Amino acid sequence: MTVLVPTMGALHKGHQALIKRARELDKEVVVSIFVNPLQFSDTADLEKYPRTPETDIQIATLAGATQVWFPTYEEIYPNDPIQISAGAVGDLYEGATRPGHFAGVLTVVNRLFEIVKPSAAVFGEKDFQQLWLVKRHFKKIEIVSVPTVREFDGLALSSRNVRLTESDRAAASIISKALQEPNRMHEILATEPAFKLDYAEIIDEKTFQLASATTQNKRAIIAGWVNGVRLLDNAVVESNS
Ligand code: PAF
Repeated sequence: MTVLVPTMGALHKGHQALIKRARELDKEVVVSIFVNPLQFSDTADLEKYPRTPETDIQIATLAGATQVWFPTYEEIYPNDPIQISAGAVGDLYEGATRPGHFAGVLTVVNRLFEIVKPSAAVFGEKDFQQLWLVKRHFKKIEIVSVPTVREFDGLALSSRNVRLTESDRAAASIISKALQEPNRMHEILATEPAFKLDYAEIIDEKTFQLASATTQNKRAIIAGWVNGVRLLDNAVVESNS
């Protein structure tokens, strides 16, 4: 059987961790690299998305990929794609800022699954809402998640980080600092003037709704911008915090 690691390229250590995990699950690992226009509501963001195919092949192969696959748009969408609805949770948080984003994600993941027919697929915890929606939607394929890989200062690895200058990088580390103290997230984020907040909330992992006093598994989710670069991150909230 095959394990699929769906990506949009610009691979980094976070993707390496996904590929390594996939290799633990099976000896056939397909890494797909496809920048999916359907999940971008902003064409400028789509155009600026980093594309590094040569290094991607090296990184994926070194991490254990047995096939690095760059499908064309026509391969993925031979006909006008019928978008898969991401439901009400798809309109919250990331979906509120990026309308149609999660429908685009579910639609491409569905096509990748139809073509590759994997037994399992590996996704990062960094895009927690994406992971949650994928797990809810695809029940016949094992969805395996891998914890976020971080820089020395806690910044979650992301393909978008290459667009951050050195001072942006320093400002961006406020996100992981805030996640360490979920009850003071807003206060901590407000200390960094370069960080423009979109949302910082504690949600119930089961429902993706705001957590209440009785919620068992809580997760703090944060998103915002530093110098026009959108950044997001999340962390488990320990029950004693
Ligand atoms: O997380 C990503 O890189 C993308 O959203 C995915 C899952 C590859 C779908 O295009």
